[in-house]
Amino acid sequence: MKVIITENYDEMSKKAAEILIDVVKKNPNAVLGLATGSSPIGTYQNMIKDHEENGTSYKNVSSVNLDEYVGLTADHDQSYAYFMRTNLFDSIDIDQANTNLPCGAAADLQKECDRYNALLETKQQDVQVLGLGSNGHIGFNEPNTPFDSVTHIVDLTENTIKDNSRLFASIDEVPRQALSMGIKNIMQAKSIVMVVSGKNKAAAVKGMVKGEITPALPASVLQLHPCVTVICDKDAASLL
Ligand code: F6R
Repeated sequence: MKVIITENYDEMSKKAAEILIDVVKKNPNAVLGLATGSSPIGTYQNMIKDHEENGTSYKNVSSVNLDEYVGLTADHDQSYAYFMRTNLFDSIDIDQANTNLPCGAAADLQKECDRYNALLETKQQDVQVLGLGSNGHIGFNEPNTPFDSVTHIVDLTENTIKDNSRLFASIDEVPRQALSMGIKNIMQAKSIVMVVSGKNKAAAVKGMVKGEITPALPASVLQLHPCVTVICDKDAASLL
């Protein structure tokens, strides 16, 4: 696991974008595994800037996202589908037909998980972007999710509901469930780039990098992956 410590969020975002842009330049047909949340927004802004200024093209790129809230349709402004369109897809030349997220509004959620797992079998991520939950989750794989898990229905923990309530009008509006790639789906990526920022993540970063490899801290599984780059700002790295 390579750990890069940056001065701040902006430097973290630039470095992460450089890695992703490099993957796309080397392989115009790359499969990008993408994440939502506050952590990768700056990364996506740098990718958009590079697309506009240097013309890096995503025409033949496809994407698979980590997760989606249950019960929100793709046009809901807190859905991850909406997040991806407004924070990245609408501002680059990716063919949106080649972008994939689990559908949290599907009538049969288990069937939707099965569909997404079958899709992931055909789409190995050249690079998977991850953020880190303050409880060590990756995707929505909450503590004690088995390492061999695939896309599944998740009951979000109180901790995650509280963390994510900042983006909703009230905590009551935060969905209680999500569909998430499992840890096995994440670990199949050829390479992984994690972006982490802020003091509230410092304990999780320490456990992930230096702690025991245990489902109690899902991100610790990344110690077993051959090609992981963790880019964290000084605050997130403060306990290393
Ligand atoms: C988002 C995701 C989550 C977030 C994590 C950190 O698709 O899978 O694991 O990466 O909750 O969220 P932020 O970046 O908002 O602190």
